[in-house]
Amino acid sequence: MVKGLYQDILVDHYKHSRNSGVIDPADFSSAQYNPSCGDRVSVTGLVSSDGVITDIRFQATGCVISVATASLLSEKVKGLTLADAALLDTPDILDLIGMSLGPTRLKCALLPLYALRDALHDYSAK
Ligand code: FES
Repeated sequence: MVKGLYQDILVDHYKHSRNSGVIDPADFSSAQYNPSCGDRVSVTGLVSSDGVITDIRFQATGCVISVATASLLSEKVKGLTLADAALLDTPDILDLIGMSLGPTRLKCALLPLYALRDALHDYSAK
């Protein structure tokens, strides 16, 4: 029952992705791809002068899990400080999607997180 609910949420985020697109010019940006399937997730975002992520957009071409996770993650990250966003890890992603995943599907779900981490890393290195 609960699993079905989460599957419905994932499909909704896949079909109607939140915060989809590109910010240009952006304060941070990055892209990641999954070498096993070639699917790709890119992220762009804006940061306020006090270090809060004020806007974020993902572009994801991939499976339901990767696209839906990018959408869910975008909602989670908007309004977080850079420091709090940098702390997001695998358990937070599993919490967002509401189910455990095998190793192959976990790679799909972590693709948006890796793109975000890369982007934040590049931003903090500027
Ligand atoms: Fe490619 Fe999921 S199958 S990211």
